Amino acid sequence: MTNFQAILYLVSGILFILSLQGLSSADTSRRGNLFGMVGMGIAILTTFLSPKISHYFLSFLAIAAGGGVGTFIARNIPMTALPQLVAAFHSLVGLAAVFVAASALNAPGSFGIGSAASIHTSSLFEMGLGVAIGAITFTGSIVAFGKLQGLIKGNPLQFAGQHMINAALGGGIVLFLLLFMLTQSSFVFWVLVLLSFALGFLLILPIGGADMPVIVSMLNSYSGFAAAGIGFTLGNMLLIITGALVGASGAILSYIMCKGMNRSIINVILGGFGSGASAVASSAAENTRPVKAGSAEDASYILQNARSVIIVPGYGMAVAQAQHALREMADKLKAQGIKVSYAIHPVAGRMPGHMNVLLAEANVPYDDVFELEDINSDFSSCDVAFVIGANDVTNPAAKTDTTSPIYGMPILDVEKAKTVLFVKRSMASGYAGVENELFYRDNTMMLFYDAKKVCEEISKAL
Ligand code: TAP
Repeated sequence: MTNFQAILYLVSGILFILSLQGLSSADTSRRGNLFGMVGMGIAILTTFLSPKISHYFLSFLAIAAGGGVGTFIARNIPMTALPQLVAAFHSLVGLAAVFVAASALNAPGSFGIGSAASIHTSSLFEMGLGVAIGAITFTGSIVAFGKLQGLIKGNPLQFAGQHMINAALGGGIVLFLLLFMLTQSSFVFWVLVLLSFALGFLLILPIGGADMPVIVSMLNSYSGFAAAGIGFTLGNMLLIITGALVGASGAILSYIMCKGMNRSIINVILGGFGSGASAVASSAAENTRPVKAGSAEDASYILQNARSVIIVPGYGMAVAQAQHALREMADKLKAQGIKVSYAIHPVAGRMPGHMNVLLAEANVPYDDVFELEDINSDFSSCDVAFVIGANDVTNPAAKTDTTSPIYGMPILDVEKAKTVLFVKRSMASGYAGVENELFYRDNTMMLFYDAKKVCEEISKAL
């Protein structure tokens, strides 16, 4: 690598760091995205300058095909489906790591890591570790995709002896990694890949419900480390830097999310280890208890007579794309002197920051939007909690029911408001599949409407 290339790679690396920094807050995220794009543009051009690249036509063809598919998906994917898309993309990074390691084993000379049957020991270690992380990421991400897309049951799936099998697979992977370094055998290599595929599958299977967001960010971290592994095999400094950045930031995000949701990160990494019976979801039982249901006119009357209203948006608001209608409704309330704030739960919706993005899109002022820990104590003094398409994030079972799959997750204390208006279309449960006791409380009024429609009707009545 020439000095010029090294400097350009360094510039890309710095732009990626600035990009991550920008993405950490809503008002600098566009700039962060721009830094990332420029950094990636410089990285691609610099890689093409390398004398190692000879098949320009094939490379451009691959970029055009991948870029075309990526652009199509990005333009058409609904925001609610982003988590499964991200999981699907992670699986591709994992598979790429497996392919690169397999190619390096087949043609070590072209990768500059030695010759057939005498590959450098350090390269064998990098390849073995990279392929194991890549293969775990591949199958783990496919299971996560299946769960988030609803193709596999979203509940945690546990069976007897699961942890023993995972431990045996982990031990087998270490053993075959050592054997691979000693023998350089293709057979041993592929056994290592198969063991890692099996471990990835079994690690993610027992995780479900409220832990899925953490697992998506955990797989993000794994995919970063797999990319760093590819970087070592290809001798590409920038890929090592980028992979390490993704790996480390994904791991930090997972840690923050675990802390926010009162989960042990070790349990989540080890595939629900120690979560025992509490991780087994209980599906919402058929319930025939009466609930108080109201109309949009009733809701507008209650809202008009309030002094303060806290809006709690959730996944249903995203499905209905109700954010603009909601902001218009909130503007009308504010115009009547009513204090309106928004309470955001860290896992509301289906991806980190989902609600913040939607509210920002609808030009809701940042100053009106509060994170859980900053607003939770305000519910007891507020007149109306207007819960729109949220369910699990308000469910008190998280505080009281030790057998619930969401037990331990902090929730928004909406039940402390004088009146709770719950907008949803039916009595159906939320993502975690658990019934919400709040629907039956005396201070709750259910508004069985589509989220966008109810906002429009309340606005009209206001
Ligand atoms: P949920 O608990 O999933 O509840 C959403 C509610 O919205 C449903 O009960 C649904 O009831 C209602 N809904 C759906 N479409 C609607 C529409 N068009 N109009 C009105 N209501 C509608 O959502 P939440 O409270 O935001 O909690 C998020 C859940 O997703 C958590 O369990 C979390 O762990 C999980 N999760 C989060 C993420 C991230 S990172 N945020 C990623 C994966 C999973 P009806 O069908 O009766 O309308």
